[in-house]
Amino acid sequence: MRVLVIGGGAREHAICTAVNKSDAELYSFMKNLNPGIKRIAKDYFLHDERNAQKVLEYALNKKIEMAIIGPEAPEEVGVTDVLEENGIRVASPSKKAAEIETNKEFMRKIMEKYKIRGSVKCKTFSNINMAREFIEMLDGNVAVKPIGLTGGKGVKVAGDHLKNIEEAISYAREVIEKGIGGKNKVLIEEKVIGEEFTLQAFCDGSTIYPMPAVQDHKRLLPDDRGPNTGGMGSYSHKSGLLPFMTESDYEEGATILQKIIEGLNREGREYKGVIYGQFILTGDGVKVIEINARFGDPEAMNVLPLLKTDFVDICMAMIEKKLNRKRISFENKSTVCKYVVPKGYGIKPEAGKEIRVDEREVKKAGGHLFYASVNEENGKIYTTTSRSLAVVGIADEIEDAEKICEESLKHVNGEIFIRHDIGTQKLIQKRINHMKMIRS
Ligand code: GLY
Repeated sequence: MRVLVIGGGAREHAICTAVNKSDAELYSFMKNLNPGIKRIAKDYFLHDERNAQKVLEYALNKKIEMAIIGPEAPEEVGVTDVLEENGIRVASPSKKAAEIETNKEFMRKIMEKYKIRGSVKCKTFSNINMAREFIEMLDGNVAVKPIGLTGGKGVKVAGDHLKNIEEAISYAREVIEKGIGGKNKVLIEEKVIGEEFTLQAFCDGSTIYPMPAVQDHKRLLPDDRGPNTGGMGSYSHKSGLLPFMTESDYEEGATILQKIIEGLNREGREYKGVIYGQFILTGDGVKVIEINARFGDPEAMNVLPLLKTDFVDICMAMIEKKLNRKRISFENKSTVCKYVVPKGYGIKPEAGKEIRVDEREVKKAGGHLFYASVNEENGKIYTTTSRSLAVVGIADEIEDAEKICEESLKHVNGEIFIRHDIGTQKLIQKRINHMKMIRS
């Protein structure tokens, strides 16, 4: 089967690697030349991934039989719809279904309309005076969110990025006035305290199959300080749960995803593809932070290397609504993923610097390497302003996976920055203690 993967980041490198494991023929459409994807694809095309007509032209030209979309931006402009209208099957949601991610107001409305557990106090505003009243009513304990896509960097939370009520109001005003996230509107949510986890699931429109839970690290600096990023790294445990969560927390997350799919169905927005729940485990149970219409980045790199079932078969089962007949399994292993980013990333990134990657030594150390946003020139790798590459360690225990990851990272050098604390015993124990305190 001729499979097209759209997107050129580390998540898409992981998707392409999974496609390549089956006997499919891999094609890639990406805006940057990802050296890892370039190496394994039969052919690739470099262009803006949101240009649906160009994606279609390329897909028809290469006689593509099935497409998978990695990032949210092409979903937002309806790349799935355009391909499907032209007879190409797509294992990713339509524009209408992907609104569960691309429109945060819509997501909260679905949760409210179908009385789905896990929502938080929230309201949208186009008027800053009304937003101010709501922020004051919540004593400034708020998350201020643009309605549309901001590449994971538009959300600001009291105590983390906003020092006081005035800063929260000021950012809400900025979101409304500048139209951050594409609308002159802001979503204000009550801030909830707890530990975050990601649950990704395969979905065929009615059945979901949840994958192992993952914890991402959005903040730039060790100990969860600094600005929000696209994600600095993540880990998962061989049990499929995380060290601070129970089976019933996991089940609750999965039930919420199932109810969202059912709600979307009742709205005439059948959802096929991977769905992603960003949850927070609080003293009052599992709450939804956001829902995404795709694999997570970096979370895809924690789960896809563990997938034992043929990934292309799963994609076909999602498209043909046969997920309930599919036996899906993952290796019972723990994973630790750390991103390598250019020095200054998130503040003033240094682009155009060489990164020296000794791929053979990374492999020898047991690491799985996924390239992200880099440029390759004359066999050398150069940074851009975004994340450069990720390395994943896999072992029975998180501790050993973390060691493999670190050993592998010794063979990546240059003007780079890495959050070395991700997946360490110390940070994980801190998470466990935090959750114990919240539950007690
Ligand atoms: N890990 C965050 C995201 O993929 O949105």
